[in-house]
Formats: sequence, structure tokens, C-alpha cells
Amino acid sequence: MTIPNMSATLLIEHCARLDALLDSHRHLWRSSAFREPDPAWVDALPRLAAAALDLSEEALQRLEVDPEALLNWLDPQVLNLRTTLAAAEPPWVGADLPEDNPFASLHVPGRKWAQIRHFMAALPPATTPAVDWCGGKGHLGRSVAQLHGRRVRCLERDPGLCQSGRALAAALPVTFECCDVLLDLPRLEPGESLLALHACGALHEHLLDRALGEGVARIDLAPCCYHLTPTWQAKARGAADPGFDADDLHLAVQDLVTAPARVRRARLRERAFRAGFDLLQRHLRGCDSYLPQPSLKGPQRQLDFQGFCTLMAQHHGLELPAGTALSPWLEQGWIRDARSRRLDLVRGGFRRVVELRIVFDRALFLAEVGYAVNLRRFCPRTLTPRNLLLQAVRD
Ligand SMILES: C[S@@+](CC[C@H](N)C(=O)[O-])C[C@H]1O[C@@H](n2cnc3c(N)ncnc32)[C@H](O)[C@@H]1O
Repeated sequence: MTIPNMSATLLIEHCARLDALLDSHRHLWRSSAFREPDPAWVDALPRLAAAALDLSEEALQRLEVDPEALLNWLDPQVLNLRTTLAAAEPPWVGADLPEDNPFASLHVPGRKWAQIRHFMAALPPATTPAVDWCGGKGHLGRSVAQLHGRRVRCLERDPGLCQSGRALAAALPVTFECCDVLLDLPRLEPGESLLALHACGALHEHLLDRALGEGVARIDLAPCCYHLTPTWQAKARGAADPGFDADDLHLAVQDLVTAPARVRRARLRERAFRAGFDLLQRHLRGCDSYLPQPSLKGPQRQLDFQGFCTLMAQHHGLELPAGTALSPWLEQGWIRDARSRRLDLVRGGFRRVVELRIVFDRALFLAEVGYAVNLRRFCPRTLTPRNLLLQAVRD
């Protein structure tokens, strides 16, 4: 089971180039205009700031959802960004996908099925048993069992998903183990490969630890949600630790994809609420600094601005004085958010740089402990922005 090999030397070079870019532009990607309305770089790069602030809403929306257009727009004002990224971006191995579409019988939603087809096209025609790590309903595991004839064990914490998965997999050599991969340390059988499609943060970190501990022969991992891990540290020894903090990890996954108008309107409304509350809380506290705002859950998304401010104020133990007129704060929130969306385009240009740096670290780490490693884009970004596939085979 060989794979095209990215040598440790090549991975170290990639890490060093990305580090140099991140170091020299730290002032651009570390500051968020959403939290600090006047990032320091605005004075240092007045032409770039003016170009951002002049963008029409239509042009802004296009740049927000199209990373290629954004890089072109930032070039050449943000030196070396486009060229460094182009050199580091893993190859897209356009796979010959079968035209027939068995997904109707596999009961997989269309977009997920498209991701799975691309993921599977990057796998060798192996018949070894596999584990679908944090497999949800086991769509990937079931596809591998059906199309490649492999025996698959799906590890999944949610009993409802396991139950649905078992029903869907009835006639296939697929089993489900309802377990918490972080706490239960499910056993790994000799000879099993590990497959993981979008195992979030700590889940894929743990996969790597287990794989190493148990000498797993092959890993095929599409990581996601890098920020969903208590802390992140470089594992590779051959490259410097980029020292990413929680905000940096979050930046790596803050992609916007083209969304229906209704979804876009709801997102912008929430952003304006957040910006409005931020202005209000600074005023109430007499302190010009940002306070983190928790994400909204379920019915909280339907709150009006009054309800939103009450919720956030309670969260921070602040009192909203009776009779506070809120509509001027909301008006200012819309204005400030229009400004910060434009300025934060610049920060957004570094999203993929941070993501690649995170994943190159893990690739280098695997190379250092004796795996032959490959990194590729397994599907177009339109199917999922988390389209990196890390493949490792023990020599
Ligand atoms: C983003 S989903 C990916 C599911 C599946 N791989 C796919 O691509 O459709 C992550 C899955 O991890 C499961 N999960 C979360 N924490 C877990 C844990 N500690 N142990 C096992 N599974 C977990 C979730 O229930 C969810 O099904």
C-alpha cells in the first residue's frame, strides 16, 4: 500500500515558508476588526485599508466567499501571500469518479456522498479491515464496505446515529461501536486502517495519538474544526512551533461559503447585533475593550436586539439600565460591522495559510515517526472547505 511520499525535508521547507509569511504579516492576520475596530495595520497600509473600505456590498460578498478572488485582490499589496500559498497548496488529484450513482441505495445526502466519492477515490483498492473514526451514521464506512468489500467498524459516540447506522448497514460487513473515542479508548485490531472524514479537533488529534501508540499501518484523515481542542501544540520536531492560540485555530475554519439569501441575512443580522452590543458594553463599562460573546443556541437565534443584549449582559453580569434606548446602538452596530467585514478581508486572506501550517505540522510529525506521508486536496472547495486529506502509511 504505497502512496506518493512527501519527504520530511519537503514538509520542513513548506513549514518554514509559511512561518516566514506568518511572521512578517503578523500585524495583518492577528488583529480582528470585529473585536478591535481600528487595527494597527490600517495606519501602516492606508491604501489597502481605503481599498477595503471602498468596496461595494456586492464586491465584498464575492471576496468573502471566493478565496481565489480574495488572494488576487490582496496581491500585490500583501507581499508574497498569493505566491507562498500557491507553492504550499497540496495537489488536487482529480479522481476519475464512476458515473453510476449508488448513493440512493446508501442513503447518503448528496453533498456528503460527493465528499465520500472523492475521499474513496483517493484510497487504494485495499481489502484490509478499516475503522471509520467518529463515523456518524457510518456513511463513509458503509460506502467502503459496499464498494471496496472491506470489513468496517464504525466508532461513534451518539447512540441515535449508531442505531440509524446499523439499520442502514444491515446487509453489509459493518459494525457499530457506540463509544467515546476520547474516554473509552476503543481497541484497535491488528491490521486495521483508520479512516476519518471530518473528525473534529480533539477527535483527530486523538486518532493520531492512538495510531502511533498502536502502530496502525495506514491512516486516511480529513481533519476539520481545528479549534475544537483544548490547546494546540506543534508535534513535529523539525519545524518551529508556530504558537497558534485559540483565535488562530478559529481563523483557520472561518470560511464563508455561498449561502442562500435567507441564511446570509440571518448571519449579517447576528453580526450587527454583536457589534451593537459590543459598542453598548464598552459604553456601560466605561472600558474600551472587547468582551467575548458566546454563540447562540436554538431559539436564542430568534431573539430581537433587546433580547440579545439582555442575554449577553446577563452572561457578563452586566446590568442594562432600565429605559436604555437600544435602537441607536443597533444602528451603530450595522455601521461598525460593515466596516469590520471589509477590514477583516485582509485577515481572512491568511485563513488557508494557518490551516496548511496546522496540517503540515501533523504531516511532518508522522513522517518523523516513520510513516510515508502524503497530503492532497481530496475534493473541490465547493463541496467542503475542509478538503485536505492526510494519508500516512507505515513503511
Ligand atoms: C463532523 S461529524 C463527522 C461524521 C462522519 N465522519 C461524516 O463525515 O459524516 C463528527 C462525528 O463525531 C462524533 N463524535 C463527537 N465526539 C465524539 C467522541 N468523543 N467519540 C466518538 N464520536 C464522537 C459526532 O457524534 C459526529 O457524528
